[in-house]
Amino acid sequence: MSDRRLTSAAIRARKNAPFPVMTAYDAPFGRCVEEAGIDVILVGDSLGMVVLGYASTANVELDDMLRHVGAVARGTQRAHVIGDLPFGAYEANDDMAVRSSIALVKAGADSVKLEGGIRMAPRIHAIVCAGVPVVGHIGVTPQTAAIDAGFRRKNDAQSLLADARAVEEAGAFAIVLEMIDARVSAEITAALAIPTIGIGSGPECDAQVLVLHDALGLYPESPPFAKRFADIAGASVEGLRRYAAEVRDKKYPPAK
Ligand code: KIV
Repeated sequence: MSDRRLTSAAIRARKNAPFPVMTAYDAPFGRCVEEAGIDVILVGDSLGMVVLGYASTANVELDDMLRHVGAVARGTQRAHVIGDLPFGAYEANDDMAVRSSIALVKAGADSVKLEGGIRMAPRIHAIVCAGVPVVGHIGVTPQTAAIDAGFRRKNDAQSLLADARAVEEAGAFAIVLEMIDARVSAEITAALAIPTIGIGSGPECDAQVLVLHDALGLYPESPPFAKRFADIAGASVEGLRRYAAEVRDKKYPPAK
């Protein structure tokens, strides 16, 4: 954790002041995100799908996250880098959760994120007690979607509110709300003192996060709520076609 970077305390203080969060997975895009004025970057385990080509996040290993967290940290200067704890790196016990979190910090993370509400509160508490700031994540939790109603939008206000409160009480400094009914997200946002970071959860969250490859048109299977702000895949194919044509036509490289 470097002292030139935005701290978890500063992010916590942004309650009620809307701010953007974006994922990134490597140094060049980390740099682009920071240059765009976004100072909170999540190295999400969405890495598995959008970069590594897996069908789910379940395949992502801690070593994958360490490599990509390190790359984003090296490509940025001031942004706060949140490292996702991947499936299998924290569930078994507090000791495992603390060790994995410390490994992410040593790789360059300023904080870690993990999925789960009440059931993960002890892990959050243990990681915070070890000195690592934590972001919670409730609603749709992709790592355990197989046992947990899959990717259907969540709307059980009572249980979601209980999860959110448990995450806050355990010591998290912010919480991701993924695919939660907008009215319920608004209720959770009003009830918590820590910022909520929404994804597919309506406009009332304190912050919003998107997966970089969805936002920039780099991933063909984006969820319907993810707005595309650029078409980088299209621009890349276009540039590559021009390159290929110039080589075939003997225009590149030019004759001296
Ligand atoms: O892995 C990820 O990118 C995430 C976001 C969808 C919040 O967890």
